[in-house]
Amino acid sequence: MSFLSESLKNLKEVGTITKSSGPMCKKMVAQAQIKETDKVVVELGAGDGVITKHILRSLPPQATLLSFEVNPNFCQILRNIDDPRLVVIEDSAEHLAKYLDEHGFQQVDAVISAVPFVAIPEELTYSILYACKKRMKQGAFYVQIHYSLLTRKIYQKVFGNVVTNFVLRNLPPAFVLTSQKKS
Ligand SMILES: C[S@@+](CC[C@H](N)C(=O)[O-])C[C@H]1O[C@@H](n2cnc3c(N)ncnc32)[C@H](O)[C@@H]1O
Repeated sequence: MSFLSESLKNLKEVGTITKSSGPMCKKMVAQAQIKETDKVVVELGAGDGVITKHILRSLPPQATLLSFEVNPNFCQILRNIDDPRLVVIEDSAEHLAKYLDEHGFQQVDAVISAVPFVAIPEELTYSILYACKKRMKQGAFYVQIHYSLLTRKIYQKVFGNVVTNFVLRNLPPAFVLTSQKKS
């Protein structure tokens, strides 16, 4: 209910009234290919933590999850997730570099995002994607949920590659776009 009420209050920022389904969360985490040696995974647009909890299940014991969320009420819910590996960052995703520096991380092992790029200005979308690409390690995956393929070209432009998967068991059914940092 809190997700629905926050969505209705801030539909432009949240982008949807339903949160990601279990199958969607699993697909996004699988696409990120988190490894035992990974040190830091970044989540963008964590909402009330539905994907966050799935990421934590796959995260190595010594790794850190930096979860960005701009909505203060969602951040409050996220802070109740009792896991020392989770760092909740109440700020916009384009400020990623500042927080990586603050926490002593040079490079990111994977990025999983649900920020509604269709609803926010295109300029901000590019700022977020380039901020991620700059700090992703070579070979790292950027995974994004989308309800349409309107913005697919953006990932092609930023990363030079994008793979599309479709998850039927989500409300509404949605796409998972995955790009890999290759250069
Ligand atoms: C569609 S919801 C996804 C929530 C949850 N991760 C899920 O999959 O159900 C998108 C979330 O992105 C957040 N958001 C929007 N713009 C953002 C930004 N610039 N930086 C970080 N989070 C943002 C919204 O507040 C919202 O909680």
